[in-house]
Amino acid sequence: MAFTWGVSTAAYQIEGGVTEGGRGRSIWDTFAHEPGRIADGATGDIACDHFHRYQEDVDLMAGLGVDAYRFSVAWPRVQPDGTGPTNPAGVAFYDRLVDALLAKGIDPVVTLFHWDLPQALEEKGGWLSRDTAFRFADYAELVAQALGDRVRLWITLNEPFIHMTLGYATGEHAPGQTLLFGALPVAHHQLLGHGLAVARLRSHSSGAVAITNNYSPVWPVSDGDAEAAAAYHALHNRLFTDPLLGRGYPELGLDPTVVHDGDLDTIATPLDALGVNYYNPTGVRAPSTPDSPLPFEFEPLSGYPTTAFGWPVVPDGLRELLVWLKEEYGDALPPIHVTESGCAYDGIDDPERVSYLDGHIAAVRTAIESGVDVRGFFVWSLLDNFEWAEGYTKRFGLVHVDYDTQLRTPKTSYAWYRDLIRASR
Ligand code: NOJ
Repeated sequence: MAFTWGVSTAAYQIEGGVTEGGRGRSIWDTFAHEPGRIADGATGDIACDHFHRYQEDVDLMAGLGVDAYRFSVAWPRVQPDGTGPTNPAGVAFYDRLVDALLAKGIDPVVTLFHWDLPQALEEKGGWLSRDTAFRFADYAELVAQALGDRVRLWITLNEPFIHMTLGYATGEHAPGQTLLFGALPVAHHQLLGHGLAVARLRSHSSGAVAITNNYSPVWPVSDGDAEAAAAYHALHNRLFTDPLLGRGYPELGLDPTVVHDGDLDTIATPLDALGVNYYNPTGVRAPSTPDSPLPFEFEPLSGYPTTAFGWPVVPDGLRELLVWLKEEYGDALPPIHVTESGCAYDGIDDPERVSYLDGHIAAVRTAIESGVDVRGFFVWSLLDNFEWAEGYTKRFGLVHVDYDTQLRTPKTSYAWYRDLIRASR
C-alpha cells in the first residue's frame, strides 16, 4: 500500500466566516473575545478566510501533490447549538470542500472535533458533562450521513489530552477552566464520545475510523526524577491510549463513579488506525515543594535548537515514541498515521522548516524500518493560521498568509515538500 502524504488544518484556525451560513457560536468564539486570553487580542473571526477561499487553498494542495488533506468540521456549523437536526448551509460548505478535493484527486481526512465545542453545550457543562459524549455521537452521525460516501479516513477527536489540560485543567485554551486533576472526567467523556461515535460513523461510511492523540516522550531530568516522569507519562501518553486499546485507565485518580458499566467496552471498540501528533519531548523533574499541586514539574530541555515557539527540535523523539507505541501495545496497536508534524518559523524562505521536516520524515522511516506500521505523514500546516492562545504570532504554514490582504505565498518548504512527494512516487 502506498504511503500517504498530506497536510493538516483545523476549522477555527483557518475558516473565519464565523457568523455565516447559520453557524452557531463555539467556545473559541467566546474565549478569543475575552480580553487578555489571546496574544495581541486576536480572534478567529476572519483567520485565513478559508470559508470563502477554500478553492484557492485546494489549488495550493493540488500544487503540492498531496494524497490527502486533513481538515476539521466545525460542530457549530453543522449543529449551531450542538443538538438537533443538521444546519443545511453549514454542511453545504463541507460538501463543496470535499467535492473540490476529490476533483483534484485529494482524499478528504475529516476530524470531527478540533476543540470548537458549541457554546450552548459548554453552558450545560461542556465535556465535564457525560451528556456531551452522546451529543458528540449524534453530531458524528449527521456528518457521516452527509459526507460518509466520500471520506476515506475519519478522526473522531483531535488531541483530547491537550483539550483536557489546556481547556479544563490550566485554562490557557477555551473554555478556560482551571480544575487541575478535577479535569479528569473530561478525559473519560471525550473517550466515551469517541467510542459511541465509532459505530455511528461505520453505519454510514466505509471510511476508516481513527482518533488523533498528541504524544511526547517524557524524559526525567535526572535519575531522581523517574517517578515524576512516570506520572506525567501516564497522563500524557497513556491516559488516552490504554483504554482505547483495551487496558482500562492507568492509575491517575479518575473518580471511578464517572465510568459507568459498559463504557470501557465502548471506548475499546477496535480502531482502523491511530493518529499520532508529535512536536517535541518533555523534560520533567520532581516537584520542588512537597505541597505542590502536581506530582511533576516541567524543565526545558537544553542542548537542542528551538523553533520560533521555543520548542526544542528533536526528530529522534518521533522515532522514540513510534517505537514505544509498538513495544508497549504490540499487536493491539492499529496502523499509524502521523496526523501532525511541523514547526513555527517566520519568513517565506524557511530552510529551518525544511530541515525540521526532513529530520522528522527520516525519523518515521527509521521507525518503519524497525517494524512500526506507519502509513501516512501530514504536515502541520498547509497555511499559517490562528495558533490558539498565540493568535497569529506563530507561523506553522508551508504557505505564508498575509493577514491584511489574505495573499497566500508558498514558502521554500512548500517547494521542498512538493519535490519530496514527487520523488517518492
Ligand atoms: C496541535 C494542534 O492540533 C493544532 O491545532 C496546533 O495548531 C498545533 N498542535 C501546533 O501547536
